[in-house]
Amino acid sequence: MRQANGILALLLAVCLSLGLAACGGEAQPSQQPEESPPAQTQPQESPSAVPSQAPEETPEAEGANILVAYFSASGNTKGVAERIAQLTGADLYEIVPAQPYTDADLDYTDPNSRSQVEGDDPDARPEIAGGVEEMEAYTTVFLGYPIWNGQAPRIISTFLESYDFSGKTIVPFCTSGSSPIGSSARNVEGLTTGATWLEGQRFAAGVSAEELQAWLDGLAL
Ligand SMILES: Cc1cc2nc3c(=O)[nH]c(=O)nc-3n(C[C@H](O)[C@H](O)[C@H](O)COP(=O)(O)O)c2cc1C
Repeated sequence: MRQANGILALLLAVCLSLGLAACGGEAQPSQQPEESPPAQTQPQESPSAVPSQAPEETPEAEGANILVAYFSASGNTKGVAERIAQLTGADLYEIVPAQPYTDADLDYTDPNSRSQVEGDDPDARPEIAGGVEEMEAYTTVFLGYPIWNGQAPRIISTFLESYDFSGKTIVPFCTSGSSPIGSSARNVEGLTTGATWLEGQRFAAGVSAEELQAWLDGLAL
């Protein structure tokens, strides 16, 4: 048996060497098709590169259609809004009153101060300076404000009546001395039509990025 195998192997070797020698002129053309499979392996590799790129692109794509809009009279809500925008990759828009609020305006111990007079008037619509450039580009709008006497400042009503929010998701959040968000968001929901309002959340001015991230993770966005 071993002898027979040896002869077979010898015969094969002779055939191979003869075949190669005979095909000397055709060796190059016959190698070309062999080279093309390696060329095919490149396109095979690129699909596997696509999924690895996808996760990098996704956050940008998501962030591109999120807006964090906020009003802040003394900076607390501004700080929280900036952290939310940073964590979500969202655009940031400050709702700026055409007539800035003075310290006297913000005096909640004075029933005649601007903030109190506006709060007492459901039809008050303090004017906003400037506006969101392309509101139609956003699908999710985080809406931040300070609690004033348990409610959202009237300038939030101005903002909500200034744009078409239909098809968008609105995520209210607020800062306060201690009050919860309570009914403040629910009471302005009716100023929009066709929007999905998520439950609002109150944050302390110094809320950590970790706490904000945990809240964001729990949102059904
Ligand atoms: C006119 C006015 C009314 C306020 N009413 C409340 C209130 O009802 N409950 C509360 O906890 N804090 C209240 N605060 C405190 C603010 O909600 C709190 O300081 C908030 O973080 C301010 O946010 P800002 O710095 O973004 O303006 C009031 C503040 C002002 C100026």
